[in-house]
Amino acid sequence: MSRILLIVGGGIAAYKAAELIRLARKAGHMVTPVLTAGGAHFVTPMSLAALAESPVYTSLWDLKDEAEMGHIQLSRAADLVLVCPATADLVAKMAAGIADDLATTLLLATDKPVVVVPAMNVRMWQHAATQANIAALRTRGITVIDPDEGPMACGEYGPGRLPEPAAILAQILPDTESGSGAVGATLAPLAPLHQPAASPPPRSGEALKGRHILVTAGPTHEPIDPVRMIANRSSGKQGFAIAAAAAQAGARVTLIAGPVALPTPGGVARIDVETADQMAAAVEAALPADVAILVAAVADWKVVASARKLKKADGAPRLEFAANPDILATLGQHPDRPRLLIGFAAETDNVVANASAKRLAKNADWIVANDVSGDVMGGDHNRVHLITAAGAKECPEATKEEVAQYLIRRIIEDLA
Ligand code: C5P
Repeated sequence: MSRILLIVGGGIAAYKAAELIRLARKAGHMVTPVLTAGGAHFVTPMSLAALAESPVYTSLWDLKDEAEMGHIQLSRAADLVLVCPATADLVAKMAAGIADDLATTLLLATDKPVVVVPAMNVRMWQHAATQANIAALRTRGITVIDPDEGPMACGEYGPGRLPEPAAILAQILPDTESGSGAVGATLAPLAPLHQPAASPPPRSGEALKGRHILVTAGPTHEPIDPVRMIANRSSGKQGFAIAAAAAQAGARVTLIAGPVALPTPGGVARIDVETADQMAAAVEAALPADVAILVAAVADWKVVASARKLKKADGAPRLEFAANPDILATLGQHPDRPRLLIGFAAETDNVVANASAKRLAKNADWIVANDVSGDVMGGDHNRVHLITAAGAKECPEATKEEVAQYLIRRIIEDLA
């Protein structure tokens, strides 16, 4: 039996602390929860108290009777202090030695082993400040369990998820058989918790080395006459973000861009085009490619354009349209079809059904379906479903850069 002082920080992962308490109790351990003000926005003291069968401490001023249960005593009555989930803020305060609430005061006062399980947004986790703070904690002998990688509640993808409570318990109290009701567990030695993963993920900049990735982005402009044209509202941001992420992962990237005012991402070879016909020709010329990601909002029709400027005096013109080449469908049937062919589908309704049909019709491997019922076109966020032969996976709203990172990770996995 171990006595765990469990500090529950703020964040959506706080709900997993409740499950962790349940499992720890079932295995015969004692848990004393301490809930931060942030944590209390996600779980209630009442639910933690019921599961822990212990009072829950939320503020320094809960400890009315200093003689009976002061913060020093509370911090030392445990065998182990577990901070789960630990927010970026809590980690930063621990690193700086700030003690401005009960949780941070206990952490400064304890003489017991401390295990920190961070959970936060991927960018916050990867931020140099957070990484420096984590490194500082580790240097001081605090055990930090690396977060899991995956889709996150905030809609992004990457490392930052709280590991499953059973996995956390298995690491800190390895004798605990999760859910079995085993008793008599002893505290794990702390050092082995940092053992590197069996197969570390490829480092950024290497994973797509030697691959050629073709990306189309932006709108096409279809001329009506020498001065007028038909366009659409595609900003090119999503395609440019994908090209940037592919280049960062080490790929040779050819970006075929319709008319957009965006800087060329580092390490990307950009070819500017205007019309769908030009885009189709540029794609053809860029083959072969290992992966093609066709993000461009290609105009479905071109206008049979007038060689001379249409005159107002001639009255409202009757425009004649002709179909544009479907670049994605063409690549789907091409002898040099890229091994992984990915299309995008902007939909306002029946997003998954329409995009799934498009995947089959165009012989694409994946379709990234974006719900454009909001302000996706031109905006900085995207709400996508990834449709593969295995079905549709919904990704919550994220920035276009995060969608790009997610897609590139999936591509790396697929090519591996
Ligand atoms: O049929 P729809 O335009 O919705 O299909 C969208 C997908 O097909 C996107 O990947 C887009 O880049 C691609 N596309 C294309 N050529 C077209 C029309 C769309 O490559 N003429």
